[in-house]
Amino acid sequence: MITPASIMGHRGVPSLAPENTLSGFRKLHELGITWVELDVTLLGDHTPIVHHDDSFDRCCNISGALRDFGRDDLKQINAAARFPELPPESPPTLAEVALLLKQQGTGLNLEMKRHGFSARDMAVTAIDTLQRAAFPSEQLILSSFDFETLAECKQYAPHLARGLIFDTLPSDWEILAKEIGAFSIHCDWQSLNYQQVRAVKNAGYQLYCWTANSPAAVTSLWQWGIDGVMSDRPQDFLSVPLQLLF
Ligand code: G3P
Ligand code: MG
Repeated sequence: MITPASIMGHRGVPSLAPENTLSGFRKLHELGITWVELDVTLLGDHTPIVHHDDSFDRCCNISGALRDFGRDDLKQINAAARFPELPPESPPTLAEVALLLKQQGTGLNLEMKRHGFSARDMAVTAIDTLQRAAFPSEQLILSSFDFETLAECKQYAPHLARGLIFDTLPSDWEILAKEIGAFSIHCDWQSLNYQQVRAVKNAGYQLYCWTANSPAAVTSLWQWGIDGVMSDRPQDFLSVPLQLLF
């Protein structure tokens, strides 16, 4: 049974701290937010790290493709480069993040981005890392835009919850969701209409929306029945009246 996940920080709390970093995940916890969505991908030596892009160019103090780096290179890289007022910190490994989140009691929506690696490598490496950290399964959703990665997760760790991510809900969404035994559907909030929300909910899936940064803009989605939002500004959702969330 997955614990409720009505507000998830998207990549941590990137409006206040560097995205996908330990300091960001600590900040999220300080704010009282109990779930996080973050991205995991692989370095060239198959170390799973928490990072969104396939290169370091956008967020870090260096440029280059992740597959050209290994775990030993991380200490040279500053993932807080866009927050010059904050101390530098390395992009975290999934192992480090899993330990921190477990200690904090933060639920984890782990978005797997394989960026050219095989679906099997992505799924098995991420799951093995979480299992070594004894990360609690009731606080974990494995999610991906990539159907093959989720299919590998189903085969390797069928007991773990899986979330299928879409930009726009396709007409065959339910066939795909059944095939990988999805727990949840994750959709761009701007693309959803009332009929789609009700179809997903009536079929029995949790429905999470990304990336909702204005509570007012998603008022109708809560009323239609969504279960949660991922937000760059999760702190702004803490004051949304509870009756709207459930
Ligand atoms: O979990 C889905 C959400 O994060 C949207 O995708 O590109 O921000 O990882 P992206
Ligand atoms: Mg993501």
